[in-house]
Amino acid sequence: MSYQTHPALKDPLYAAIRKIAFSKEPEAAHDWAFNWFSKPWVSSLLSKRYAAAGNPSATTVAGLSFPNRIGLAAGLDKNGDYINALGALGFGFIEVGTVTPKPQAGNDKPRMFRLTEHGALINRMGFNNLGVDHLVKNAEQRQWQGVLGINIGKNAATPLENAHDDYVNCLERVYPVADYVTVNISSPNTKDLRQLQHGDALAALLDAVMTTHTKLATQHGANKPLFVKIAPDMSDDDITQFIQVANQYPISGVIVSNTTARRDLVEGHPLAMEAGGLSGEVMRDFANERLQSVQSKAPNNWALIGAGGVSSGDDAKTKLTLGADLVQIYTGFIYHGPRLIQRSIEQTR
Ligand SMILES: Cc1cc2nc3c(=O)[nH]c(=O)nc-3n(C[C@H](O)[C@H](O)[C@H](O)COP(=O)(O)O)c2cc1C
Repeated sequence: MSYQTHPALKDPLYAAIRKIAFSKEPEAAHDWAFNWFSKPWVSSLLSKRYAAAGNPSATTVAGLSFPNRIGLAAGLDKNGDYINALGALGFGFIEVGTVTPKPQAGNDKPRMFRLTEHGALINRMGFNNLGVDHLVKNAEQRQWQGVLGINIGKNAATPLENAHDDYVNCLERVYPVADYVTVNISSPNTKDLRQLQHGDALAALLDAVMTTHTKLATQHGANKPLFVKIAPDMSDDDITQFIQVANQYPISGVIVSNTTARRDLVEGHPLAMEAGGLSGEVMRDFANERLQSVQSKAPNNWALIGAGGVSSGDDAKTKLTLGADLVQIYTGFIYHGPRLIQRSIEQTR
């Protein structure tokens, strides 16, 4: 398969930016691009250029009012450093994080790889972040008015049996500044994290988190939605069992999905065997299948956020057709730029 920009997304400005960015090592490119995007004059120009056509289309999901259905997936802005700049690109919601209680460096570099021919990335970042206090400060100071989700995780040094302490700690810290919170138990890059998606470990985690959530809702007079983000590498049976356990707690819904451990989707690529999670266009059909499976089994009152492989406005629309209420994008944004956000908003009204 050869990677190509969809004709509706052709954009000479972004093509020029991408050319420079892709000449750099992926993490250096990220820092370089956001250094520019976050300058107020650049942000203001981009905001005008990439405004979606037509009237805004507010929608209510999980009790929150979203200006549109297209959001940024977690991991691009781990520390909440770029909320205003990303907001200016039109996203209806932005999910920052994954954040952990203490700052941590993450895995050794290099840890992000572009498989350009496939419109894909492999990453094994390992929750590199500056810690929850840094993120909370940024969230408090944001000017952007859209919906802010905060995605929480555990420090690598915290043993799995104490994971709930880290999630509870983060939930308490972020609750006052988040519009919603995501419990991320599906990163492939923190050892054994995905075990929290199953059975007793899931029940113990949700028990601790939801007890704290109830306390915080009373304390702050606001019942903020809590989502759980799952991996696509779950069988139908895994999904059935996950839902049985999770449905015993008042979560608001699920994000389907995180990156995949599958490699057959990029077989033969020189970087295919790099460790980490695979994302982007190649995982689209797989993520859609998992979304459909969750949709067919989940209780009606759960909201579903579809993520994985969105690379065109049509892809965003397909997620809604399959039962998602909202859509998140990461890798497609790197390959196609803000035009993808604009088109996705326009096609999901
Ligand atoms: C470089 C990179 C870092 C990521 N970091 C996180 C993270 O910290 N937390 C998380 O929940 N998901 C993380 N993700 C997963 C994305 O949020 C998203 O679920 C996944 O990439 C599928 O969507 P996409 O195909 O649009 O990228 C990361 C993805 C990438 C590519």
